[in-house]
Amino acid sequence: METGAALLLLVALLGKSSAVSFYGDSISFSPLQMNTDGRYKVTFFHRENGRNDCQNQASLLCEGGVCMDLDESDTLQTDQDSSGQGRWCQTEKRTTATFQANGTSFTLSWDEVDKAMIRKSQSSPGNSMYGIVLDAGSSHTSMYIYKWPAGKQNGTGIVTQHSECKVQGGGISSYAGKHGGAAKSLEECMKHALKEIPTSRQHQTPLCLGATAGMRLLNIVNQTESERVLQEVEKKLRSYPFLFKGASILSGQAEGAYGWVTVNYLLENFVKYGFVGHWLNPGRSTIGALDLGGASTQITFQTSKKLENQDNLMKLTLYGQTYTLYTQSFLCYGQDQIIRKLLAHLIKTQGVKSQVFNPCAPQKFTISTKLGEDVFDSPCTEKYRPDNLDPQMTITVVGTGNYQQCVNNIKEIFNFTYCSYSMCSFDGVFQPRVTGSFMAFSAYYFTQKYIKEITNITLTSPSRAVEAAKLICNMTMAKIMEKTKAEEKYIKNVCTMSNFVQVLLTNGYHFDEASFPSISFQEKAGGASVGWALGYMLNVSNDVPAEGLSMMKALPSGSWAGIIFLFIVFVFFALVYGVVINRNRTTRSDII
Ligand SMILES: *[C@@H]1O[C@H](CO)[C@@H](O)[C@H](O)[C@H]1NC(C)=O
Ligand SMILES: *[C@@H]1O[C@H](CO)[C@@H](O)[C@H](O)[C@H]1NC(C)=O
Ligand SMILES: *[C@@H]1O[C@H](CO)[C@@H](O)[C@H](O)[C@H]1NC(C)=O
Ligand SMILES: *[C@@H]1O[C@H](CO)[C@@H](O)[C@H](O)[C@H]1NC(C)=O
Ligand SMILES: *[C@@H]1O[C@H](CO)[C@@H](O)[C@H](O)[C@H]1NC(C)=O
Ligand SMILES: *[C@@H]1O[C@H](CO)[C@@H](O)[C@H](O)[C@H]1NC(C)=O
Ligand SMILES: *[C@@H]1O[C@H](CO)[C@@H](O)[C@H](O)[C@H]1NC(C)=O
Repeated sequence: METGAALLLLVALLGKSSAVSFYGDSISFSPLQMNTDGRYKVTFFHRENGRNDCQNQASLLCEGGVCMDLDESDTLQTDQDSSGQGRWCQTEKRTTATFQANGTSFTLSWDEVDKAMIRKSQSSPGNSMYGIVLDAGSSHTSMYIYKWPAGKQNGTGIVTQHSECKVQGGGISSYAGKHGGAAKSLEECMKHALKEIPTSRQHQTPLCLGATAGMRLLNIVNQTESERVLQEVEKKLRSYPFLFKGASILSGQAEGAYGWVTVNYLLENFVKYGFVGHWLNPGRSTIGALDLGGASTQITFQTSKKLENQDNLMKLTLYGQTYTLYTQSFLCYGQDQIIRKLLAHLIKTQGVKSQVFNPCAPQKFTISTKLGEDVFDSPCTEKYRPDNLDPQMTITVVGTGNYQQCVNNIKEIFNFTYCSYSMCSFDGVFQPRVTGSFMAFSAYYFTQKYIKEITNITLTSPSRAVEAAKLICNMTMAKIMEKTKAEEKYIKNVCTMSNFVQVLLTNGYHFDEASFPSISFQEKAGGASVGWALGYMLNVSNDVPAEGLSMMKALPSGSWAGIIFLFIVFVFFALVYGVVINRNRTTRSDII
């Protein structure tokens, strides 16, 4: 091939001979284009004809992470047989892939597993199974609906996030003492779930609620009341046609482990759909999970080190592989509780006065605080509580915006001196050295986002984190609001949180200049929210009957190759470059 011809696209359609109810298809694609930003674009047009139901046009998956964007048109469906029996139909779809030119090849594979199942199960309304998880956090509750094909891979369903619903109002623990409040708060989102999940699937859809540190705290304060709230919520959830699996308070350990499962699942570290048309174990190393909630914070990572405290050990089996994890949850080190603890600590050191100075609040920023409700109404601030506290007393907290004093006060909340093991993170908790990459989510993500907005500093090292905190703590509220365009309530604690995150990661978990850059701050991955809920669903889906399994097996094994198409597009970039330069000389016939 001469250089003028330039572009070689190889399309391999393997085993195109088809399954029973399938007439065939055709595929064409446009010549590769180079955008001005150096990315490449190619459009595939796919048409297929079938004898049966072919409503679910398969979609393209991009391998190797080179795709920036896969833009799919709506499926155009032509039902030639107007009797509605679906004896003949044709679907067409256009997919434009935009990708980055950092490799020598990219692969797009056509995933038709779903469709195979649709063909084989005409009577079923959908080929998906669903599951609902209510994440009852300390500050609010989120509902996630997941779905997975009605088949399984080594015991665990391949789960994706279908939709999400935020429950209005506070977390369920905030309804302590308010009968009926917690149950009622969930109604709106449950209505959404009834709409989203096909009626005939509802009775098979597992539904569970997991409560985290907010309820763990309420359980410490008043166990009777926390049980009452859970029972009330459970009664409500049972009244829906779903398969109720339980409402319970997750242990900190489980919360950490499920967060880790979520992160690694979304990054396809356990399984991925390979271009040869079956699930592969990619054999990649897993990444650690850093979660910062409202009332607690978790760290979880895979380790081969000996765990000196067995409470930190978690063994998980997923997709036929066993993983040994270190996991630790710190109650009272979530965002809201840290802010309370800092105030309590300042009041304790300065004395109970009508005015207390807060070096972590912007200069001259004042806020009036009720000692009972806002500071000492939590087991987390118990040890700072002054004798004969008047819970009704209101004090004024005055910001002084002083980085050094702020960071000193925050460090005093931790205990870095006591350790009965060979090594500790803080508060006497054993922790081996952190290894590998980490993903930091929930409040970590938002703190990092605000830091970036305010200072234009990306959190990539301890020194950058310190630099950012110094800048932020020396800013006025007006300046911070101007930079973030966020409401006061979201950003008034940004100096506190910048310092807390920095101290927790470096002094606490011992991330250093070498390991800190391996932390990536993320809210979502692979279209799903990062949190513990997906990991929980994966485990729950483990004992959901795999009705699809027999269906998949019912297909003769030979036809699998026919159902799974495969496009391998080798793009020789050096030559592509030639195309762009010599575009006039290039014709479509150059595409093989
Ligand atoms: C290309 O870049 C993407 C995104 O930066 C990355 O995920 C992928 O691994 C890279 N691929 C190659 C072959 O370097
Ligand atoms: C705990 O809650 C119950 C109501 O469930 C209430 O009757 C009781 O007084 C509470 N106990 C404390 C110590 O607040
Ligand atoms: C599923 O289990 C089989 C045997 O138990 C194993 O060979 C295969 O690699 C597993 N698949 C994945 C994706 O882990
Ligand atoms: C740290 O904890 C240990 C054990 O609980 C205690 O003896 C020590 O005083 C604490 N140190 C600080 C600085 O709080
Ligand atoms: C932010 O930093 C980047 C480089 O790190 C620079 O290119 C950009 O201009 C900066 N933006 C602002 C608003 O300062
Ligand atoms: C804080 O900002 C002021 C200007 O707003 C500046 O004069 C001062 O040097 C800054 N202080 C520190 C410690 O950066
Ligand atoms: C997953 O669920 C099973 C029961 O279905 C349970 O025994 C196991 O402990 C769960 N795994 C975790 C990590 O909680």
